[in-house]
Amino acid sequence: MCGIFGCILKNGNAAPVIHEALKRLEYRGYDSVGEATIHNGKLYIKKDQGKIDEVHKTRNLDDLPGSLGIGHTRWATHGAPLEVNAHPHVDCSGQIALVHNGIIENFSELKLELEGLGHVFKSRTDTEVIVHLIEQVLKNNPSLGLADAVLEATKRLDGSYAIAVISTKEPNKIICARHESPLVVGVNENAIYCASDIPAFLPLTNKAVIINDGELVTLSLEGYEIKKITDASLVLREPKIIDWTPEMAVKQGYPHFMLKEIHEQPETLRNTLRLQEHYLDLMATFLDRAREVFLVACGTSYHACLAASYMFSKLAFLATYPVIASEFVEQHGKSVNIDSTILAVSQSGETADTLAAVNCARQRAATVLGLTNVIGSTLTRVSRVYVGQQSGPEIGVAATKTFSSQLSVLAQLALRLAKKRGKVSQDEMDFLAEKLEKLPDTVETIIQTQEEKVKQIAKKYKDAKTFFFLGRGISTATAYEGRLKLMEIAYVPAIAFPAGESKHGPISLVEQGFPVVFVCPKDETHKILIGNIMEMKARGASIIAVIEEGDEEIKKLADDYIEVPKGIPEVLSPIPFVIPLQLLAYYMAVERGHNPDMPRNLAKSVTVK
Ligand code: F6R
Repeated sequence: MCGIFGCILKNGNAAPVIHEALKRLEYRGYDSVGEATIHNGKLYIKKDQGKIDEVHKTRNLDDLPGSLGIGHTRWATHGAPLEVNAHPHVDCSGQIALVHNGIIENFSELKLELEGLGHVFKSRTDTEVIVHLIEQVLKNNPSLGLADAVLEATKRLDGSYAIAVISTKEPNKIICARHESPLVVGVNENAIYCASDIPAFLPLTNKAVIINDGELVTLSLEGYEIKKITDASLVLREPKIIDWTPEMAVKQGYPHFMLKEIHEQPETLRNTLRLQEHYLDLMATFLDRAREVFLVACGTSYHACLAASYMFSKLAFLATYPVIASEFVEQHGKSVNIDSTILAVSQSGETADTLAAVNCARQRAATVLGLTNVIGSTLTRVSRVYVGQQSGPEIGVAATKTFSSQLSVLAQLALRLAKKRGKVSQDEMDFLAEKLEKLPDTVETIIQTQEEKVKQIAKKYKDAKTFFFLGRGISTATAYEGRLKLMEIAYVPAIAFPAGESKHGPISLVEQGFPVVFVCPKDETHKILIGNIMEMKARGASIIAVIEEGDEEIKKLADDYIEVPKGIPEVLSPIPFVIPLQLLAYYMAVERGHNPDMPRNLAKSVTVK
């Protein structure tokens, strides 16, 4: 998730306008920043790694001539957060500059092809192929205009993109195109803008044109022209007036970042399907060779590890040990050795407890693998192999979108390992891969159809003193995560444990009206879970069940239920089933008058032990 911006002004310099807009987009990424302008037929570029303010201090981002330009703030996915990988990227002739948000899946093939034709690449990004591709299209068809060349080039791209392109050959235009990454145009009498989202230009204009998937738009001071990429047909679309306050704008109309991030999950899950397969394969090879595998993390990331231990076991027949990072040194510090592999999972890549476990393992010559959201973080530097989960920055303190992304990456890893070990048939692999592809849509459906219901449930239980969260099998991890979310942002004491444990002690707490949340996918645990529901009901508990659509048996038993679409394989079930629990925690916090974005005593990145 990066931020792109572009503008053409009637008067004045574009650079300070781009700089300010990028500041408003910084929440989308802050690994590096860059700007390109055109003045008197010449391209000017400034870019560097680091946050916008840091780069501005050393490079003065306002000091570029010209009234037309583009800019970018980066969240690294392909290529480390270094100056050379910062956007804008430029073609070999130095005439075309481009910024991009998204992931190009077929960049390796395209790069090989373009290198074969003599193109020289400077960066390790996927993005750079696009600008060379445009250059090549123009070389092959010198009579084409820039817009047509961009249109032809985008037809060769697989993956997601929102791009803005400028060229000294057509110095009065910006060409943009989009597929699956957001793009909006802003207009007023004195300027025209393009951006990843409306807040980037909202202080400058409230007239916005939303660009849809598969569209290309040419911006000039005369206005904008939208075309469909498939057949170049024209699309007519009037600007809309946006009546957001500045505070609403930053959150794109959502009252809190947490809700915005819950709603972003269809998009972030799609991004997890665009991982660099080579690194997943390499990780699977290390896991396959290991004598013992520890899955090490804290908090929500630990819950992802717990779910992953079921995935590895069920798909790849590999026993792994999920360990809370702060306990790792005490529990395994003496036994971990050269034959051990540690898969550390950390959204921030900077959590002190996780890094301490990793250090201990490294000192004892174990292999360290990393899964993180922050390329360039300490975890990426100390891991033998790492994979970026590509969720973009998460601002709400409570992890939501980063959790579902971790689960998706870990499921893909388990599948690869299963394949390597010959433990699943091709049919089963294809079936699971197809279900994984559909998950973003499933999550979208859950949010669309169940959010209102969850809101009402939160209203009903807002004064409850304690909650239980129960599940069996892999749903135990989902239950733990639902409980953590509720506790940390709504300040409701809650207990989670495998449902089978209740009769070994915790059930003594249950009395009339005690709320118990059950996570109930229709997997092998379903029947026995019904027994656990009955046990709780018999003691007067109020049952809130997250069920599969049409699960009449549990509907009859539950006081309240939330439905997720049918047919989700057991190993993938934590992804859809956690969504209602995230929403429940969010609405409980709001009902109880707390700010879900800033839970007391907590920090987003815990860098002390
Ligand atoms: C809970 C939450 C924390 C983090 C934990 C680990 O909502 O966000 O429990 O999951 O502090 O953080 P990372 O994943 O950055 O290592």
